[in-house]
Formats: sequence, C-alpha cells, structure tokens
Amino acid sequence: MHILPLLILPLLSTASVLQHRYDHDHSHNVKRNLPSTWYHHPSHPVHSLFRRDENITYAPVGSTEWAAGYPPDPPALPDVKTIPAEWLAALNDAIARKAIPDIPLSKNTTDDGNPVYPTGVDPNSPEICSSTYQCRIPGDVWDAPAGFLGLSFDDGPEAGSGKLIEFLKTNNQQVTHFMIGSNIRDNPDAFIQEFNLGNDIAVHTWTHPHMTTQSNEQVVAELGWTMQIIHNSTNGRVPKFWRPPYGDSDKRVTAIAKEVFGLTTIIWNQDTDDWSLTDSPPGTTAAKINSSMHQWLTGPKTPGLIILEHELSNQSVATFMSAYPVMQQQNWNIMSLAQLIGQNASYQNADNSTSPVNDVNIINAKSGSPPSAPSSTSSTPTNLQASGQPSVVSSNPSPTSSTKPNSASPRWVMGPTAILSVAVIFMLWR
Ligand SMILES: *[C@@H]1O[C@H](CO)[C@@H](O)[C@H](O)[C@H]1NC(C)=O
Ligand SMILES: *[C@@H]1O[C@H](CO)[C@@H](O)[C@H](O)[C@H]1NC(C)=O
Ligand SMILES: *[C@@H]1O[C@H](CO)[C@@H](O)[C@H](O)[C@H]1NC(C)=O
Ligand SMILES: *[C@@H]1O[C@H](CO)[C@@H](O)[C@H](O)[C@H]1NC(C)=O
Ligand SMILES: *[C@@H]1O[C@H](CO)[C@@H](O)[C@H](O)[C@H]1NC(C)=O
Ligand SMILES: *[C@@H]1O[C@H](CO)[C@@H](O)[C@H](O)[C@H]1NC(C)=O
Ligand SMILES: *[C@@H]1O[C@H](CO)[C@@H](O)[C@H](O)[C@H]1NC(C)=O
Ligand SMILES: [Zn+2]
Repeated sequence: MHILPLLILPLLSTASVLQHRYDHDHSHNVKRNLPSTWYHHPSHPVHSLFRRDENITYAPVGSTEWAAGYPPDPPALPDVKTIPAEWLAALNDAIARKAIPDIPLSKNTTDDGNPVYPTGVDPNSPEICSSTYQCRIPGDVWDAPAGFLGLSFDDGPEAGSGKLIEFLKTNNQQVTHFMIGSNIRDNPDAFIQEFNLGNDIAVHTWTHPHMTTQSNEQVVAELGWTMQIIHNSTNGRVPKFWRPPYGDSDKRVTAIAKEVFGLTTIIWNQDTDDWSLTDSPPGTTAAKINSSMHQWLTGPKTPGLIILEHELSNQSVATFMSAYPVMQQQNWNIMSLAQLIGQNASYQNADNSTSPVNDVNIINAKSGSPPSAPSSTSSTPTNLQASGQPSVVSSNPSPTSSTKPNSASPRWVMGPTAILSVAVIFMLWR
C-alpha cells in the first residue's frame, strides 16, 4: 500500500489535476482577469529549488540558528556570491531559453525616486514596459475582478502589524501580507501570528530596492531569499505572488520572477500613500486618505479594487480600520488578494495556511509518512507554535476554516477512490 502513493505522484503532477482547478466554470468572472497559469505546473523549476528534506530538523522559527540561515541586515543587498548554485542555474537556463529579455537596467538618480533608463530607452516601449511608468505587462495584475476588493498589506512584519493582527482577528478577516524577507527574520513573532491567523504570505523582496535597478543575479537574490525564508517558516509553502517595492518592475524583472520562481507580479490600481503618514513632514494625512478611500469605495465597481496599504505604522493601519466598515457597507466582495487572484490557492503548492502542502517538493520522504500521500492528509493543518517551533498539529487551528467539502472549490488532490482507480489503471497499463 505504501508504494501506491509514490506511483501516483507523477500522475498527480499531470495537467489533468491542475486543469480542474483552472478550467472549472465559475459563476463570476475571476478567471478572465487572471494571468496565464502554465508556469504553476509542477514541472516548473521552482519546485526543485525549494524542497523539504525529511532527513533534516528545521531550525525553529525565530531561533538564532534560523535567523543565521539568511542574509545579513539591510542596507547591504544579499551577496550574489552566496546565491545557491541551483538558483543561478535556473536563471541561466531561463536566459538560455531566451525567456529573460536582455534590456538595460534603470538607475535611481532622480529627486522623485523614479528610476530612469539610459537616454533613448523608452520605459513605455513593449521591450521595457516599466510599471513605474504605468506600462502594464500582460500577465501582471493591476486590477481586481469587478465587484471584488482584494486586501493586502506591504512591508511587514513591522510596527503596525500588532494593531492589524488584533483588528483582523476581531473581524475574522483574512488578507495577504507582501512581506520583506529581512523583516520576517527580524520580527518572527508577528510573522507567526499573521500566518497562524490564516493570512496569506507573499513576497516583497529582501531589502526593498527598486528592482529595475538590480542585476539579474541581484533580482534572483532578493526574490530567492524571501521565498526561502517563507518556505522554511511555513512548513514548506512556496509563495505564488510578489509585489515589487515602489511598484517598480519591467519585462526583465517580471520575467525572472515568473521563469525562475513561478511568481506572478501584482501591482495595484489605487494608492493611499499611507506609508508617508509617519514621514517628517508627513506626505499625506488620515483625512486625505479618508477622502480618497470614500471616493474609491463609493465609486464604480469595475474594475474591482486593489488598494495599496501598509502595515508600517499604527497610523497606516488606522486608516484601513476606519475604511473597513465602508468597504462592507458598499457591498464589496472583500477577500485576501492572494485568495482572489489565486482562485483560492495562495501558494504554488498549497491553498492556504491550513490546507495540505502538495508534496512534489519533498525529498528523502520517509516511507509510509503522510507527505508521500497528500491525498489522504486533506484534514491535516499545519500550524506554527507560539514557541516558534513549526510542527504539524492534529486539531484545526483556524476557527474560520470549514471541513465541509465544497464542490465548487478547486482542489489540488484527488480523493482516495480516484487515487485507487488511477493506480489500478496505471498498473494495468504497465
Ligand atoms: C531551509 O530549507 C533548506 C531546504 O530544505 C535547508 O537546506 C536549509 O538548511 C533551511 N534553512 C534554515 C535556516 O533552516
Ligand atoms: C531612490 O532615490 C530616492 C530619491 O533620490 C531616494 O530617496 C531613495 O532612497 C532611493 N532608493 C533607493 C532604493 O536607492
Ligand atoms: C500600536 O498599537 C499597538 C496595539 O494596538 C500597541 O501595542 C503599540 O504600543 C502601538 N505602537 C505605538 C508606537 O504606538
Ligand atoms: C472617514 O471618517 C469618518 C469619521 O471618522 C468615518 O465615519 C468614515 O467611516 C471614514 N470613511 C472612510 C472611507 O475611511
Ligand atoms: C473561493 O472560495 C469561496 C468560498 O468557499 C467560493 O465561494 C468561491 O467560489 C471560490 N472561488 C473560486 C474561484 O474557486
Ligand atoms: C536520509 O533518509 C534516507 C531514507 O530515509 C536514509 O536512507 C539516509 O541515510 C538519510 N540520509 C541522511 C544523511 O541522514
Ligand atoms: C483552505 O483550503 C482548504 C482546501 O484546501 C479549504 O477547505 C479551506 O476552507 C481553506 N481555508 C480557508 C480559511 O480559506
Ligand atoms: Zn514596500
């Protein structure tokens, strides 16, 4: 019996399982607005870059040993000489496939902080298509589907995270956190709380640079280390989305994110400037944000809203708290941004923080252990303990998650009957 799940693995990886997810007919129009999803296929290189090793004991989240596994504090960029060879090989393979455009880097030299390209290079040309200049690369996400409001917070875990956590808990609301990798390392407690609350963790780079100013290798390091700390600290989840700091991406950077790491680039369509509330002098005020929010929330429902907000300070979180009742009164369909864009699957190998992790990326699987049989672990949630020790717990930690099967939701896994049937077919066929 133990061998069966192993035989099934290649079959689980086939398109037919994924097609159910992406081809499923839904009543609303989420699907039309989504980027192409071919690169989420389990054969994508990302699945061999981030693998769980059953032979090793992972350092508890928040421990000194855990923190030491990642690059040092900003402002130093991650040293490209320490990039794991597999990441560089994946980059070089993508370059060899001509999947990464060979375009000039920008430079951050201007007063307004908008990076500029060399003279004669048009940032709005199809070859460059810089999001700083509002050029939209096909496949990047700027808008939500009509009527939907995708919630997300950037730059955490940070000084506003505690206040945000309290509010989200009280309101039983899930959101997506675009996290700075070095902030995860420096604020592991807030990280654990946000993950355990059922929120989705996405990538916002390691040191928050303008990414179009960074070399291919630096882009790999910024994304890769943030992927790695999230992967190692969430029982093996592989993030699916990233947001470029300052919204600054272009064809080259977006391609590296997609081709090497399987990440979809998410920008926004409304900007609160809430990050500047605590600047001196402040770049905006709570009253100004209140007025913008009011206009967006009572305005047209098409396109849906992706509002840029930050968990940088209690002030920035407070502007969200005051707008939240209006979001509800105006009948927006409010969701975590990753759940919305990912069609309820926020990670490349898992639906959310309590659902099972697809095991295509487990190595040294111990025979008979649950990871080799993902289909039979559908009620095994993962939780991070308050001590910081990641572990698998047997009771469902999320009061909001339902165990009721939902025939409308896409699934990663097959039921036991399907597994057995496929196994029999597979064995007969051999
Ligand atoms: C993260 O996970 C990788 C792969 O499983 C492992 O090699 C590495 O030691 C881990 N790092 C830390 C800091 O736990
Ligand atoms: C970019 O330039 C702006 C303005 O000169 C400056 O404030 C900012 O720190 C720079 N950012 C980076 C990442 O170098
Ligand atoms: C922010 O709010 C939290 C909880 O609401 C509080 O514990 C913390 O002291 C506040 N931080 C500041 C800087 O006021
Ligand atoms: C604006 O502020 C008022 C007064 O505090 C509040 O009642 C209202 O909900 C706020 N609206 C938004 C969109 O933040
Ligand atoms: C996501 O889940 C919700 C709640 O279970 C469901 O109503 C919705 O149809 C799902 N969306 C997709 C795209 O599967
Ligand atoms: C890893 O696990 C395999 C299978 O469980 C075992 O045979 C092997 O000795 C282990 N390797 C190490 C380095 O522990
Ligand atoms: C997490 O995903 C599972 C399906 O894998 C679903 O049953 C559950 O409702 C989801 N939980 C939340 C909080 O959305
Ligand atoms: Zn940011």
